[in-house]
Amino acid sequence: MNVRKMAYRLLRMFERNKRFPTDEVKLALSRMNDKERAFFKKLVWGTLRRQIYVDWVIDQYLKNPEIPPAIRVVLRIGVYQIVFMDSVPDYAAVSETVSLVEERSFRKLVNAVLRRIAEKSFKEPELLHVKYSHPKWIAEYLVEKYGFRNAVKIMENHLKPIPLVLRVNTLKFERDDLLSVMEEEGYDVKPSPHSPQGIVLKYNGDISKLPYYKGGSIVVQGESSQIVSLILNPDPGEKVLDIAAGYGTKTTHLAELMKNKGKIVAVDISFDKINELNENAKRMGINIIETAVMNGKDIPAMFEADFDKVLIDAPCSSLGTARKNPDVLLTFKKEKINELAKLQSELLNAAYQVLKPEGRLLYSTCTFIKEENKSNVKEFLESHRDMKVVDIRDLLEFYKIDYIWDGYGTFLLPDETLTEFYISLLEKVEN
Ligand SMILES: C[S@@+](CC[C@H](N)C(=O)[O-])C[C@H]1O[C@@H](n2cnc3c(N)ncnc32)[C@H](O)[C@@H]1O
Repeated sequence: MNVRKMAYRLLRMFERNKRFPTDEVKLALSRMNDKERAFFKKLVWGTLRRQIYVDWVIDQYLKNPEIPPAIRVVLRIGVYQIVFMDSVPDYAAVSETVSLVEERSFRKLVNAVLRRIAEKSFKEPELLHVKYSHPKWIAEYLVEKYGFRNAVKIMENHLKPIPLVLRVNTLKFERDDLLSVMEEEGYDVKPSPHSPQGIVLKYNGDISKLPYYKGGSIVVQGESSQIVSLILNPDPGEKVLDIAAGYGTKTTHLAELMKNKGKIVAVDISFDKINELNENAKRMGINIIETAVMNGKDIPAMFEADFDKVLIDAPCSSLGTARKNPDVLLTFKKEKINELAKLQSELLNAAYQVLKPEGRLLYSTCTFIKEENKSNVKEFLESHRDMKVVDIRDLLEFYKIDYIWDGYGTFLLPDETLTEFYISLLEKVEN
């Protein structure tokens, strides 16, 4: 397969539709061997991560930056290889990229621009958002809300490929036992630094084909996401609600912590996600999850106020997932923040109504946007006087996590395996 051509086609699709072509990328990956898959991932995700920087470089070498979008995409792929992929010799990056140009009349231009860039005579950008390849508003937002040092830490982290982290299904295996088995079979594995159920695996193949996956012993789940269910920490026998369960990555984790005893009600607005959740639970040998496709706002009309624990892993701007999904930084429109914050506070209100006294509610998002985090929780607490914040700082220290505590919740700072997450644990107390 011509991997560069495939990368070009998919990045062109992204440029045209301003939406990452997830299904097409999955299909392309399934047709590649491990080596091709590794190169493709580096090229596609890398070009997206550095798109703003790369565009800045390109524009310095163009007399007129108004070039057709297809040519800009070709140039991005070429420049990314020249500037950021040491494994590709410059001459190969230039010639392979020029061969991607469909409009013959632009070949000369692309060739000339790439050759000049290969001389690497350009200076490092001074503007912070260009240097770290983030939209200007996001770089400014991070500096304003988190200070310069944390802003740089967050943006630098977004530029690195994320290691593959798995969660061991403790209903089937202890982590150490699975690590030993996988090591014996030649896999490059190690325990993840924070979650007691996490494994870091170096692997370029298709995870869903691994016997451990098919047999339900592992789930692909980032480490920050694993911390969420560990903080809510439901007991066996409890009744738990997961109000935006998605594919059930956290729902199944909750079931493991409950030793598959008790009851979990998992709802999501997406039919496909609930279908997949059901498949995942089956594969993992979990039978305490009842699912429903519904709007979380309708929960109070459908359920009694008898849940011991409720998880709201809220639909959000997802900007904290940029390391895994760099496209999110390029496509998210800040005008959507208010709409998301409104939905999130409606879900908080719905969850509150079905939580029993002394019950606990965990609100989490994978974003650094404060309007979706602290502001929402603060407003909710002001109008629900019987809800109190639970201080989870000791727990985060136990899991060796670097965080910012804002009095309402914690913001997980990124590191080698962690990505940004906001977690607020609340409890219903006597008035
Ligand atoms: C952050 S994702 C949840 C991820 C999931 N908890 C996990 O760990 O994989 C948010 C989910 O909210 C769902 N969603 C969006 N609006 C919703 C609503 N009004 N009611 C219920 N679910 C909703 C989306 O379909 C999405 O699956």
